[in-house]
Amino acid sequence: MRAGVFDSGVGGLSVLKSLINAKLFKEIIYYGDTARVPYGVKDKQTIVQFSLEALDFFAPHHIDILIVACNTVSAYALEEMQAKCSIPIVGVIEPGVLAVQNKLTDTDSQILIIATRATIASSQYETRLRNIGFWNLTSLATGLFVPIVEEGLLEGAVLESAFDYYFSSLATPPKAIILGCTHFPLIAPALSSYFKNQSILIHSGEAIVEYLERHLHLSSRYGLESLQFYASDNPAMLTQIAQKWLS
Ligand code: DGL
Repeated sequence: MRAGVFDSGVGGLSVLKSLINAKLFKEIIYYGDTARVPYGVKDKQTIVQFSLEALDFFAPHHIDILIVACNTVSAYALEEMQAKCSIPIVGVIEPGVLAVQNKLTDTDSQILIIATRATIASSQYETRLRNIGFWNLTSLATGLFVPIVEEGLLEGAVLESAFDYYFSSLATPPKAIILGCTHFPLIAPALSSYFKNQSILIHSGEAIVEYLERHLHLSSRYGLESLQFYASDNPAMLTQIAQKWLS
């Protein structure tokens, strides 16, 4: 089975890593729109337009399924993409919400959603969580983490001061934190220790693997035979980051 993985840039490599580890696909083609990243500060119309253009990129590659690793695209453009394409297109939001449902039995639990400005503005996570009974929700646009991760500052003073900047108003560690942006799994260890290891972290990559296994009945039967990287700008940089993040 040949899968496409689409992201606005390099962040989707965190989702790709989970897909590779799960051995669900024989071939994977990763495409990052590095020329136009970040999507998380753009408006809906632009995000939809760029996402539909990504379908044009994948068309000649004849993929069997498209994984949308980007939370921002999943929040705004999934339906439009699905309407234009006959193959399954799966985003990360629904899997993330189902992962919360699987991990938390108490609907009173406080859930912190962190994501780009656009994903938070879409209210997609909030609405879906409310629909299944969770109400104690805090949503924060934490866009600074994106450049911090890209700069490789996965621990230390800069990251800690960004944590303080965003989280100092939270009275207690949340029961769960949705890492609603591709970059955030890379700061998961630091985030976990900031909240004294008391929060369950919801990782899009792990959530989507679980979703593909449960809902699309995919299972680990393939060794990865081919992994190709494409980027709309500076593909060498993407490949270099991939070597680092995927190791
Ligand atoms: N990939 C984006 C996301 O998961 C983060 C980077 C961007 O803003 O494009 O929302």
